[in-house]
Amino acid sequence: MFELLKTLADAYGATGRETKVANVIEGLVREHVDSVRRDNLGNLICVKNGTDPNGKRIMLSAHMDHIGFIVAAVEKEGFLRVAPVGGIGLNVSQTRHVRFENGVQGVLVRQPLKEGETAAMKHFYIDIGAKDAEEALSMVQLGDVAVYANDCFRLGQHRVAAPAMDDRVACALLVSLLKDLPPVRDTVVAVFSTQEEVGCRGAKTAAYGVEPDVGIALDVTANGDTPENKLPAVKLGEGICVKIMDQCSISNPELVQELLTAGEKAGVPTQREVLPFGGTDAGSMQLTRSGVRVCTLSIPCRNVHSACEVIDLRDVEAGKQLLMEYLRG
Ligand code: CO
Ligand code: ZN
Repeated sequence: MFELLKTLADAYGATGRETKVANVIEGLVREHVDSVRRDNLGNLICVKNGTDPNGKRIMLSAHMDHIGFIVAAVEKEGFLRVAPVGGIGLNVSQTRHVRFENGVQGVLVRQPLKEGETAAMKHFYIDIGAKDAEEALSMVQLGDVAVYANDCFRLGQHRVAAPAMDDRVACALLVSLLKDLPPVRDTVVAVFSTQEEVGCRGAKTAAYGVEPDVGIALDVTANGDTPENKLPAVKLGEGICVKIMDQCSISNPELVQELLTAGEKAGVPTQREVLPFGGTDAGSMQLTRSGVRVCTLSIPCRNVHSACEVIDLRDVEAGKQLLMEYLRG
């Protein structure tokens, strides 16, 4: 799982620019599914037909995109002014190594604040080593998006840190599931979605096109096991989380129960998750057409939306086993 995760975490894929990640995933899953297509928003939609033509359509959604910094202006000294794409944490963005799609690297810097100023994105710039605006614009263009540079590494025995762990870890789970899933009754539609970080936009059009009976989002969630962090009340390494509610969706109670039961049958640990903020692709899936029963399976993650997002591989494996059991059952 680590090698797969590293491959996916290292691929460039800012929000709205997910093609490279989609290409990598398509190469990995093509031979394990019956069809692969992309829609106009760039969602990668992989279908594994069920054995029963009257079976359900189950949409599993993991987002490919990663928060970033879009070049909004270039200063005469060659520094790039940026705007956020998705939920950037300013306090974790000081003096960071960043990378553009074309390979140009930079250092994201926050300039010193004047007295009474509070930090805002306007205080940040990217230094790409250019001597002036002309040289800078020969390296990148307005509208190019930088992301935290890839840096995926093991942490202790079971854990892995990387930027883009949100949500490549769920992409890895889903790829691994497609590879190992035997034929099952229901049709499984694995959607690797786009633009989640700006409001679950990809999942919205994907769900409309897929017309699922059941929608399950796969994503990271925050953690309650570090100093000062007590919500959500979930811990790394203690199992896959079955979401009851976040700010964008209330999970279908029967589906929550079915997933918890599947976890029990599979013999893997599960955690019940109540997240007082945030949202996932489930929020978009449930509101498509005349409504869809949804839930989210989440992987607890430390330092979400930073350059060092940390997960525990045992939770990923638990999620995979739970889904295998749910789909077989
Ligand atoms: Co996110
Ligand atoms: Zn996410």
